[in-house]
Amino acid sequence: MKNITIAIDGFSSTGKSTIAKQLAKALGYIYVDTGAMYRAVTLYAMQNNFISRENFNISDFVMQLHKVNLSFKFNASLGFAEMYLNGNNVEKEIRTMKVSSFVSEVSAISEVRKQLVKIQREIGKNSGVVMDGRDIGTVVFPKAELKLFITASPEIRAERRYKELISRGEKIDYNTVLHNVNQRDYVDSHRKNSPLKKAEDAIEIDNSNLSLDEQFTKIMSLVKTTLKNKE
Ligand code: DC
Repeated sequence: MKNITIAIDGFSSTGKSTIAKQLAKALGYIYVDTGAMYRAVTLYAMQNNFISRENFNISDFVMQLHKVNLSFKFNASLGFAEMYLNGNNVEKEIRTMKVSSFVSEVSAISEVRKQLVKIQREIGKNSGVVMDGRDIGTVVFPKAELKLFITASPEIRAERRYKELISRGEKIDYNTVLHNVNQRDYVDSHRKNSPLKKAEDAIEIDNSNLSLDEQFTKIMSLVKTTLKNKE
């Protein structure tokens, strides 16, 4: 059976990574969480004082981008690859609310996008990949055989993200999370460089009222059809 490229885009907290991981596991494909890459670059900017509440020194930051080394290492016990920034596992740090509050600004920078898209294309060049993000079907792999655009209402997404943050021990209230979800939706879809939008040939899945099992079954049947058409 031939391998395909599966591009999954959509707004924040729509559960893209959950379905992407399920698909990668079922198909024996590589899973690439491109949001983790933008988050790791943001963490680098924070750790090196390029970005703070008051100020973002974009020009100095861009000059130091060559010092950012990103890699994924497969964690067999978790069943997916974790994000490493300059040799350190940053999976925990990149998921905090603080990183979420800066990441849209960092990911709007064209030099950042160029650097990350290059790595993403290299990782996915042999197909057999499930990649999730905001511009996978439109920019990174416009010829992907299967493109999905995942949506859900902002309130449902904020609720999911809120529960996830609380379970990780963050002290946060629901309204702050909802505000961040709405703000990132706006910035991600209105930026000049590679704004989030549905590719013309993407299939939209609204999972507001779908269980994980229902979603998986629905998408797996799309994968099977795509694979059949490729035979
Ligand atoms: O998927 P996520 O919420 O972890 O992504 C974090 C941010 O990274 C998101 O708000 C926008 C940005 N991003 C992007 O601009 N392009 C991608 N391909 C993936 C993420």
